Amino acid sequence: MPFDLNSLLRPHIKDLKPYTSARDEYSGKEGIFLDANENPLGSVTIENFNRYPDPYQTSLKVELSKIKEVDPKQVFLGNGSDEAIDLLFRAFCNPGKDNVILLPPTYGMYEVSANINDVEVRKVSLTADFQLQPLKILEAADHNSKILFICSPNNPSGNKVKREDIYFLLRNFPGLVVVDEAYIDFSDEPSFTTELKNYPNLLVMQTFSKAWGLASLRLGMAFGSEEIIRILNKIKPPYNISGLTQDTVLHALKDKGKVDLMIKEILAERDFLELELKKLPFVEKIHPSHANFLLVKLPHANQVYEDLIKEKIIVRNRAKVTLCEDCLRISVGTRSENEAFIEALAGIGKLKNLKI
Ligand SMILES: Cc1ncc(COP(=O)(O)O)c(C=O)c1O
Repeated sequence: MPFDLNSLLRPHIKDLKPYTSARDEYSGKEGIFLDANENPLGSVTIENFNRYPDPYQTSLKVELSKIKEVDPKQVFLGNGSDEAIDLLFRAFCNPGKDNVILLPPTYGMYEVSANINDVEVRKVSLTADFQLQPLKILEAADHNSKILFICSPNNPSGNKVKREDIYFLLRNFPGLVVVDEAYIDFSDEPSFTTELKNYPNLLVMQTFSKAWGLASLRLGMAFGSEEIIRILNKIKPPYNISGLTQDTVLHALKDKGKVDLMIKEILAERDFLELELKKLPFVEKIHPSHANFLLVKLPHANQVYEDLIKEKIIVRNRAKVTLCEDCLRISVGTRSENEAFIEALAGIGKLKNLKI
């Protein structure tokens, strides 16, 4: 059956009249603006922020779409990808009726957003080597399954997901297939954005929070069909991306070369961390990573986590997460941070006489 976006959409969203902001009606930059109840005198700060920003981030999308090789109409920008995740639930999932399919272990916000929106979560665990179980995913789905979230490279395991499994699901899953590529810049894997023309049910998410080093600005990207992007734009808060973020990122896009250099350095540091971890006799497993972190299995992970905190070294404790028992997730730091971490971990291992 051909994919029909309208049948996935919540009926009241189909009929929704969106808020029209003052800046929707006139897009020129010159003029006397007496339409939005702003402060005409300027701002309390040195730099002026007294005018509302472009609600659709047009200039930013034009430049970004050149780098990403997609049409600007296929780009949605959110206050972090977390905003796009939440909007997907609000657009497509009827609370108390619809469901989404999640593939643990995976990024935690999919489930939190589902819970906030009172949407059933159906979980189909990954395999022991963190790959998909495509047939089980289809078995778990029914006509109320609106979204499947696939994270590749996956958080917290770090591996990339087999492309042929994603293609299979794009062809067979009844709802939207979201491919979350938050960590794609650290991987040799091509983005799924090139497949947007072939799969109207595909939505690809990326973020400026990782490789671009702009986590604090909060800017996430979603790439999809013009129809899907129009729906997200219709229901988003009118000025969801601040002017400061739009301007800063527009400038940052000119510095793609610097991003590439940072990625190179982070990947070299990931290799360094892996090499050093391998020297510690109590480290049981280092999962192969295509991201800017390593998932590491070691004895008494909960205790090691606490001991590291005592030394003011904070890692992510994943010991209670499905398939990640006794695992800590270590973000790649600078050389001196990585050295300090390894030294502290080696010290804890020795003191506690850790053994595999
Ligand atoms: C897989 C994945 N998706 C999305 C996000 C959220 O990104 P953002 O900072 O753009 O909200 C994260 C953050 O850690 C993540 O790991």
